[in-house]
Amino acid sequence: MANEAVLTKNFGTKNSHTLGVYEQGGGYKALKKALTGMKPEAVMAEVDKSGLRGRGGAGFPTGKKWSFIPKDSPKPKYLTVNADEGEPGTYKDRPLMELDPHAVIEGSIITCYAVGIHSAFIYVRGEYVKSVQRLNDAINEAYAGGYLGKNILNTGFDLDIVVHRGAGAYICGEETGLLESLEGKKGQPRMKPPFPAIVGAFQGPTVINNVETMAAIPPIVNNGGEWFNNLGAPGVGGGLKLYPISGHVKKPGVYELPMGTTLRDIIYKHAGGIRDDKKLKAVIPGGSSAPVLRADEIDVKMDYNSLAAIKTMLGSGAIIVMDEDTNMVKTLKVLLKFYAHESCGKCTPCREGTGWMDRIMTRIVKGNGHISDLDTILSISNTIDGKTLCPMGQAAIGPSISFITKFRNEFEDYIRKGRTN
Ligand SMILES: Cc1cc2nc3c(=O)[nH]c(=O)nc-3n(C[C@H](O)[C@H](O)[C@H](O)COP(=O)(O)O)c2cc1C
Repeated sequence: MANEAVLTKNFGTKNSHTLGVYEQGGGYKALKKALTGMKPEAVMAEVDKSGLRGRGGAGFPTGKKWSFIPKDSPKPKYLTVNADEGEPGTYKDRPLMELDPHAVIEGSIITCYAVGIHSAFIYVRGEYVKSVQRLNDAINEAYAGGYLGKNILNTGFDLDIVVHRGAGAYICGEETGLLESLEGKKGQPRMKPPFPAIVGAFQGPTVINNVETMAAIPPIVNNGGEWFNNLGAPGVGGGLKLYPISGHVKKPGVYELPMGTTLRDIIYKHAGGIRDDKKLKAVIPGGSSAPVLRADEIDVKMDYNSLAAIKTMLGSGAIIVMDEDTNMVKTLKVLLKFYAHESCGKCTPCREGTGWMDRIMTRIVKGNGHISDLDTILSISNTIDGKTLCPMGQAAIGPSISFITKFRNEFEDYIRKGRTN
């Protein structure tokens, strides 16, 4: 099992964000290889072989997603790179954009070539000011270097990329909310079908891919899909993954590791174990929407299927670690406040349900809870389940159901004691 730096290989290099340094490290070689030596279908075939699944949360196979774009569409096709990164705990796309923006751009150009797209957008979370600057500077350099614009590398292929800054709404990370926002409308999800591959940005067929997904494309083209796939853990495949880890660990940070590395290894081998050598109590394995795991559940491989098998999810791969002193009641309250605040309000179960759960948790934390409140929250969660246009409803109930069912004793104790501290 390899453990090499691929997506993060430029992070330690001075001025890694500039074109000159990127080219010195082999940057834009993959683009040259694709545009001058590979048919679009051949690029797609390598991405298929790589086992790359979308790194934004849903884990949809990337090559397959590209293949859904109609080849003969009379309407313009678009690529939208999702750089909204709003999922709590997730901070893996930001270093890619700040330290290696050309990798994201090169991956985007190759994607557009493979799918036959001539206009792309990068939708960046509004708070990520430096990411926006770095991407814009890199895009200007890429135009000047002949990697963007008309007749790229004299191959006859044209592409423009525009950076679009969001305004700080979690829902605009959801792909159809993102499209609405990109079009200048209120960020709210669309009914699906039609899926964005058929009716996306400005009514045209649209590929939506995460920043990390895009950054994986150049190494796949350079070294082949099979090479990338084999970088994943044995029996798992799927390449390397960026795992941002935060919370009560000694060495929080973004770790690039084989897909399928165990959660225990990430926490103890890579992130240095629990702060002050305390005991581990719980871990959220894939961003705040992923159902929480108890300390006895961390021998799980961090990949899509292994986490789904224990009823949680890889999501963005963001790991939030909680030590023995963590108050699970207060933690759930913080999480539910976030979802209530970020619900866009379009679907009644999510709009009302997240607000109710937030208000009940606030009352519980203030010491005025009833034991029956716990079943009320579970019942609200079950009512939201599967009844919203987008998976935001699902995201909100991941924490509520898992915290209450796995740590019920702690919730009941808290309510009985009517604690106010
Ligand atoms: C509420 C919500 C927020 C999301 N936020 C993000 C985000 O910030 N970044 C992202 O890439 N995907 C996010 N997603 C997933 C996107 O809808 C979409 O699946 C993803 O951008 C597809 O790219 P990928 O196939 O490369 O993963 C979010 C989904 C939901 C339901």
